Amino acid sequence: MSKQPNIRGWHWPSKQHIPGIPVRSRLLRQSVLAVITALCCVGLGLGLATATTPPPTLIATGGIDPVPEQLQLGQQLYVRECATCHVAPPPAVLPLQTWANLLPNPNHYGVQITPLQGPVLQTMWNYVRYSSRSRLDNEDDIVRLNQSRFFNALHPGVDVPRPVNITGCVSCHPGAPEFNYRPLRSP
Ligand code: HEC
Ligand code: HEC
Repeated sequence: MSKQPNIRGWHWPSKQHIPGIPVRSRLLRQSVLAVITALCCVGLGLGLATATTPPPTLIATGGIDPVPEQLQLGQQLYVRECATCHVAPPPAVLPLQTWANLLPNPNHYGVQITPLQGPVLQTMWNYVRYSSRSRLDNEDDIVRLNQSRFFNALHPGVDVPRPVNITGCVSCHPGAPEFNYRPLRSP
């Protein structure tokens, strides 16, 4: 092994050779290590980036489930059209089939309402369909909240006065007029 004298007079091994390992293979190992380290850093960076970025599509609302951004307009139309005579009930409290019959129907529980149609109905429907669930095939069509197992499922053990009345929601849900069913108060 060649030794080179340095300025202070002691010797420094110019190329340290580890016995048994050829110099070329050591270089190879070092570069493989460097590549792995670089990949790890990129991976970690990506991981951190995804961990700190909030999910872009879902927006929490006062309904039940967060609503994707593209359905926000449908929800706004729903609240605009349906929270005038009474509070707008979140679509999740009734089955999908009930909404499908109710929304385009001018005969509304004994009163006449302006039937929804065209793009307004379609946009609103996309939201309502997303936010409600289908009844089972062997279940009857229902029209009243009082008959709704979906409403009941959201009120486990809650002593809701019967028959359920749409004007009564606000006594326990003070935010219902703003379509916010999260805050609760004892009736
Ligand atoms: C012109 C006033 C008016 C408008 C607008 C209106 N409703 Fe109603 N709604 C009523 C009346 C009146 C009742 C019957 C209340 C009762 O008999 O207890 C009712 C009842 C209901 C019920 C049944 C509640 C129960 O007793 O189970 C639902 C659900 C409902 N409305 C949803 C809607 C939706 C959705 C819209 C928007 C498309 C809407 N309403 C728009 C007046 C209105
Ligand atoms: C007697 C009080 C009472 C009345 C009246 C009442 N609720 Fe509720 N509601 C509750 C309570 C308490 C909960 C929470 C139940 C739980 O999660 O255990 C709840 C939960 C809900 C939820 C779920 C909210 C969430 O955070 O996911 C919705 C939606 C809802 N109610 C809608 C209605 C509607 C619509 C009416 C009127 C037709 C109504 N409620 C009437 C007490 C009431």
